[in-house]
Amino acid sequence: MNDHGYSLDAYVADLRRITGATRDEDEILAEVGPLAQRLALDKSWLEERHYETDPGQGFGVHLLHEEPDHSLAVFVVAWLPGRGAPPHDHGTWAVVAGVEGTERNTRYSRHDDGSREAYAELTEKHAFDAAEGELICMKTGGIHAVQNNSDRVTLSLHTYGKHINHSSRSQFDPEEKSKSDFIVRVE
Ligand SMILES: [Fe+2]
Repeated sequence: MNDHGYSLDAYVADLRRITGATRDEDEILAEVGPLAQRLALDKSWLEERHYETDPGQGFGVHLLHEEPDHSLAVFVVAWLPGRGAPPHDHGTWAVVAGVEGTERNTRYSRHDDGSREAYAELTEKHAFDAAEGELICMKTGGIHAVQNNSDRVTLSLHTYGKHINHSSRSQFDPEEKSKSDFIVRVE
């Protein structure tokens, strides 16, 4: 850690402090957001291998940190040009900060009550392009899709209340009104 920088270790210490002091997701997002931005812009943690992608799923997921109970999970995700992730939730709170390039984020509203197995009604709420240092914060239940419309690999820093393969999250097909488990391959 240099004198003026912000290291991954310092970020993890801040995550522990913030989530130790409150369980209120609005408070957590308000405090974690600016710190995630700071770490995304610092880039002291960034390594060449974080640009590696998985053509099978369209993006590469690289774990930077998780607690032994899978909470406070931090990833860098590398997105292939023209690829993305379908609408999905996270089963926990999520803070995404742009690191390199611009990613289109589309937010959705869910209208059914969740009582029907494998069924979900979604409509698009709004879409925006998240560039370097820009934030997307979602409480538990927030749904978004990500798309890299550029011609090169983009990177973003993702922080979750729980590791995304341990938080029982879902992916959605708005056309089919269907819902299924969303498990990703993590490097
Ligand atoms: Fe996501």
